[in-house]
Formats: sequence, structure tokens, C-alpha cells
Amino acid sequence: MEYGWKNRGGFMYLNKELVIAKNSEKTIKILPNMLNRHGIITGATGTGKTISVKVLAETLSNAGIPVFITDVKGDVASICEEGEMNESISKRVEKLDLENFNVSSFPTRFFDVYGKTGHKVRARIDSFKASLLSRILELSDSQTGNLNIALKVAEDENLPVYNFVDLKDLLKYVMDNKDKYNSYGNITTQSIQTILRKLLEFENTDADIFFGEPELNLSDLCTYEGSTGRGIINILDSTELVKDYNLYSTLMLWLLNKIYDTFPEVGDLDKPKLVLFIDEAHLLFDDMNSSMLKKFTQIIKLIRSKGVGVFLISQSPSDIPEDILSQLGNRIQHNLKAYTPKELKSVKVAASSFRENPNLDTEKSIIELSTGEALVAFINELGQPEIVERAFILPPQSKIGVVDENVRRKIINLSNLRIKYDIDVDSISTHELLSKLKKEEPKKEEKKKKNQKSKTEKLIDRTINTATSTITRRVINKLFKGLFK
Ligand SMILES: Nc1ncnc2c1ncn2[C@@H]1O[C@H](COP(=O)(O)OP(=O)(O)OP(=O)(O)O)[C@@H](O)[C@H]1O
Ligand SMILES: [Mg+2]
Repeated sequence: MEYGWKNRGGFMYLNKELVIAKNSEKTIKILPNMLNRHGIITGATGTGKTISVKVLAETLSNAGIPVFITDVKGDVASICEEGEMNESISKRVEKLDLENFNVSSFPTRFFDVYGKTGHKVRARIDSFKASLLSRILELSDSQTGNLNIALKVAEDENLPVYNFVDLKDLLKYVMDNKDKYNSYGNITTQSIQTILRKLLEFENTDADIFFGEPELNLSDLCTYEGSTGRGIINILDSTELVKDYNLYSTLMLWLLNKIYDTFPEVGDLDKPKLVLFIDEAHLLFDDMNSSMLKKFTQIIKLIRSKGVGVFLISQSPSDIPEDILSQLGNRIQHNLKAYTPKELKSVKVAASSFRENPNLDTEKSIIELSTGEALVAFINELGQPEIVERAFILPPQSKIGVVDENVRRKIINLSNLRIKYDIDVDSISTHELLSKLKKEEPKKEEKKKKNQKSKTEKLIDRTINTATSTITRRVINKLFKGLFK
């Protein structure tokens, strides 16, 4: 497919080459078929990490590769606006001898958990693994075990669990019927009551807002601009979200887990279906227990064959666990400070993660690098890391700084995802169904079977008639089918 490889007046994607950086001797390109070998962008504050992300995202978009970026400081969103050919950009263009450099805006979609600066991002509770939920709720092992049982019961009984209200009801239901479900494991009233108490604490918090319907469909992140074939750059506003460390990191883990669970195996593609850039990546690993880390390492490994690349952004490579770090093949290292013993150690770790260049003192270079300059090493055709180079990252084609909110609003308003995500779906929840069913339950046991059918049908009819959305109808049908099978 030639999608996105057309020369649209830029210079980075000529001859299918994705140029990212340059020095006096070399032009450094990233290989599209090696983007699923993941990557890492590191460096101290203000050294050029975000601009490197932007340059990568722009280049990938030009090459027809969709991108997802978490915008932690609010300075990524301006990728939707054309850059300015000011003195600093002109200087860099001249210095790097970039012929045909042009400023440009990029096709962008905005997402936001709070629904203010983008399409609302939600996830259903039942699409979370108990281990991830327990991370948000800070549960003990035995509480996590009980949560796991409850979610299994919901799955087996076809009970949809969208939000915390549903989860509370499910937990109460499992607690009240623990004899019925004792084959699932050890259900303890105490553990369930503790989870219920914790859920109470989370009412009306960010996490409460995040859980619900309609869930973000990940295929909506793998899209292209119709007129040009450029990959869409999906931006998750994380400026507020990141303040809730737990929710931010859990959302990212959910995203990766969901990709792993739902994307088909595709092996090695000419170019990936999606590349994710996750800023403040060290947050993912804070408080991560060893079994979760093992699982995460496996996901990072296996996601490769799903045609997805993941770039982690953090201050120093030593922020990232060794097993994960070794999976991140494409590397950009910006300047690191080396004043304290800890910083010095970080510089050594960073230097040692590169394949040595005989003409370069890697350690010394790291502390010398200027803004927008980096040690760069990408994976080569043989699947091996290339020798490290000291080079200047290209200037971005889009605007540097914060986005014009009017431009962002206009893009959100024009997006075809508005209808899908920006209206809350008032679906019938487990909570409502369980309480309705309780009321309508026939008293006499022998009448139960006979009446159940007609009552159920009536209830379905009544509810479906008042339901407005297809999602609601689908859910009701599924739910009733499950409850009365
Ligand atoms: N490749 C580049 N081309 C042109 N200017 C650059 C480049 N890299 C960095 N800069 C300049 O340096 C400034 C700081 O870069 P950037 O915001 O990317 O740093 P950062 O490492 O992301 O910082 P922080 O840790 O605070 O997020 C930019 O606003 C821009 O002016
Ligand atoms: Mg930054």
C-alpha cells in the first residue's frame, strides 16, 4: 500500500525514508518495519524530549502511520497547528541543511477522560483485569482474589459491569450468594465489604468518571486522513489526568492490555498499525508488583507481532525496569545532568544501553548535549541496534508551544467521533436489572419457570421500548438472555 508515502512537499519521507536526526556526516532514519521494536526517549527537563516525540509523530503521520500520544504538559496538542518559520527553526534548518523543509499542521484527534478538551475516553469495568482494578483501588491480594471472582461471576452470568455502581451491586450480589459461587474460590464477606468501602471513597472521583459506556474502541485510533492518507495523530490530554498517578498509569496499562487482547496477530508488517508514545512512563512502574511487571513485560514483547510500537518517555533510562528497557530498541537520549552520585549512575546506565561508537565518548556526550541534540540509535535492517550517533533532532514542522484552544475546539467539533463518544449512553446497568428482577421475581417456586418467561419477555419489551440507543438494546438482550438461560 502506497498510502502516505507520497511526497507532499516535505523532505522526511522521500524515498520512503523516515529521517529523524542529522549530524555533519550522517542522516539518521528510523525504519518503519522496525517501529514495532519499540523505543525510548529520555533526557532531563527541557532538553528536547517532547519535540523529539513531535518530530517522530509528524514523520510517522506523513508515512501513513497513526499515532497515539499522551500530552502531559499540554505542549503536544499544538501539532494540529502549522509551525512558524522563526529564527530558531530557520537556524536549525540551515545548520542541518534540510532542503524542502516546510511548516505544516497535522491531522489530529483529541481525547480527554473528562470530555472537556477531547472526545470522552471511557472504559468498562469488565474490560479491566482484577489486577488492574486492584491497582486503582489499592486492594490486598485476598481482596483482589474476591474481585476476580466477582468479575468471573459477571462474565459467566452475562452481567455487564460498566461502572462503580454496577460493580458495587455485583459485589453485593456475589456476597449474598456466596454459597452458589463457592466453586469459584474463597469468597469472604470481609474482603468484599472492604472493597465496597473502598469503592465508596472513589465515588465522584476521576476514576468514577472514567468507567462507563461507550468504551473507547481502539480501532478509532488506527485511522488515516482521507484526502492525504496521513496517519491521524491521536492526543490524550493528560495534563489533569497525570495528577492522578494511579489512574493515568492504570489507563495506559489497560490500553496496552486491550491492544494485546483484541488486535489480531499480524507478524512483522512493512509499517505498524499504530505507534504509542507514553510520557512520564516511570509512573507505569511505580508500585508495580513483580507478577504484574512480568505480565507487562510479556505484553510489550507480544504486542510487537500485533503491529504496534510503543515508545516510553521518561527522564532517565534508569526509571524503567531492566526487563522492559531491553525491549525498547529505538533510542533517543537527550542531555542528562551528572552532579549527584545518583545522576552520575543514571548517565552510566544510559551510556551502557547503547552499542558503542569507537569515535564517540558516550558518557561524556550525554552531559554535553545541547537542547534538541541527542544520542540516537535505531534498530537496523538486521533487527540489531545501530551504533550510537550524536546528532541534532530535526525541527518540528508544526507549532511549538501550547495549542490555540479555538483551533482545538474546531477540530473536536468537526470530528466524526463526537456522536460516538461525547454523549453519555444511558444504558440499563446491572444495578437496575438486578433490582428490577428482584421486584418482579415470582413468589411461588413452581410458577417460577412458567412465569419467568413471560415476565422476562414483558420486561425486555418494556425496557427495549423505552431504550433509545442500539447499544442499550443490545446490552438488554444479552443481559436477559444470560440471566434466564
Ligand atoms: N528538535 C528541536 N528543534 C527545535 N527546537 C527544539 C528542538 N528540541 C527542543 N527544542 C526547543 O527546546 C525547548 C524545550 O524542548 P522540550 O519541550 O521538547 O523539552 P522536554 O525535554 O520535553 O522538557 P520537559 O521535561 O520539561 O517536558 C522547545 O520548546 C524548543 O524551543
Ligand atoms: Mg516535555
